Amino acid sequence: MEKLVNVGIVGLGAVGERLLHQFVKHPKTIVAAICDTNTSRLNELQAKIDNVNIYTNYNELISDPSINLVYVAVPPKFHHRVVMEAAKAGKHILCEKPLANSLAEAEEMAGAVENANIVNAINFPLPYSNAVQTFKAKWEAGEIGKLKRVELKMHFPQWPRAWQQNPWIAGREQGGFIREITPHYIQVMEDLFGEITYEQSFIDYPDNPEQCETGVIAKLKLQDGIPVIIDGLSGIGRKEEISFKLYGDKGTLALKNWGQLEGETNEQSAFPIEAIENNEHQDLISEIIKAMENKQSRLVSFKDGYNVQKVLEQILQHV
Ligand SMILES: NC(=O)c1ccc[n+]([C@@H]2O[C@H](COP(=O)([O-])OP(=O)(O)OC[C@H]3O[C@@H](n4cnc5c(N)ncnc54)[C@H](O)[C@@H]3O)[C@@H](O)[C@H]2O)c1
Repeated sequence: MEKLVNVGIVGLGAVGERLLHQFVKHPKTIVAAICDTNTSRLNELQAKIDNVNIYTNYNELISDPSINLVYVAVPPKFHHRVVMEAAKAGKHILCEKPLANSLAEAEEMAGAVENANIVNAINFPLPYSNAVQTFKAKWEAGEIGKLKRVELKMHFPQWPRAWQQNPWIAGREQGGFIREITPHYIQVMEDLFGEITYEQSFIDYPDNPEQCETGVIAKLKLQDGIPVIIDGLSGIGRKEEISFKLYGDKGTLALKNWGQLEGETNEQSAFPIEAIENNEHQDLISEIIKAMENKQSRLVSFKDGYNVQKVLEQILQHV
């Protein structure tokens, strides 16, 4: 099949590399340029791709006339500057989550892509998964009855996790599990239930002002007043558990550890639910290409990302 889209990737860390391989494999995309300030990382990945231009300055990648789509995978506080330049140059943009490192940045970014009239998407993988599509279908079919409560639990024996060492993930400025994990589920909740309102949050921080939170309890509410409870804790003697759960009067429905579905009723204790295979809207890159071809597509836009950021910054008590 003809390759159509030349992608330029800015940021070649854990996540940048993950998507780099997906762009290489995709029949319609070529990784035409990569950029990182870390030259050994740049050289390591250049060796894995044919005919790729390399840059240490993202402005040069953005000015590369061959690039149609810029994928922004730098740490959160650098998203804004790269996105603003790419929007100015009229390039289509895929940005990592969370959209920005503050609500003011997110607002400016959402405005810039709208004014530039470019395709804009955030890499939230959950909406493309079979598990989340099945979760949504079961909720919409009314299987758990009337909703009483929504709960997000994020429990970690250690944060950052052992495999997740980088210069920013443990820091209060850009890291922490509230910033890293909560946005995925705020997006899912807003997709399922519409706008979410912040009510209250209590955050536990260590004495060192540079270090991220160790706990959070927060209460939000859905449009019809249904409470959303967020319970996050790190440094505890148990296995990691990330659980997004709906409590209804006929049963519960949970998404555990990103991909496992579980139900429960008052007659049946917790039972696994198999995700339904559904190949429609299954792949973020194909959806971006559809949007670039002016076809109907399913993307989490910067506007959606701004709405997620608003709730996130409220939980963090920054706005
Ligand atoms: N979508 C997801 O599921 C998911 C999962 C984890 C992380 N993320 C997000 O992805 C982003 C990157 O996370 P990561 O874990 O890959 O981080 P990382 O620290 O492993 O990688 C970031 C890379 O960006 C490079 N970089 C930093 N500043 C730069 C600049 N000005 N110009 C060019 N390169 C620069 C660094 O050298 C590094 O190689 C973050 O926003 C994070 O929140 C998304």
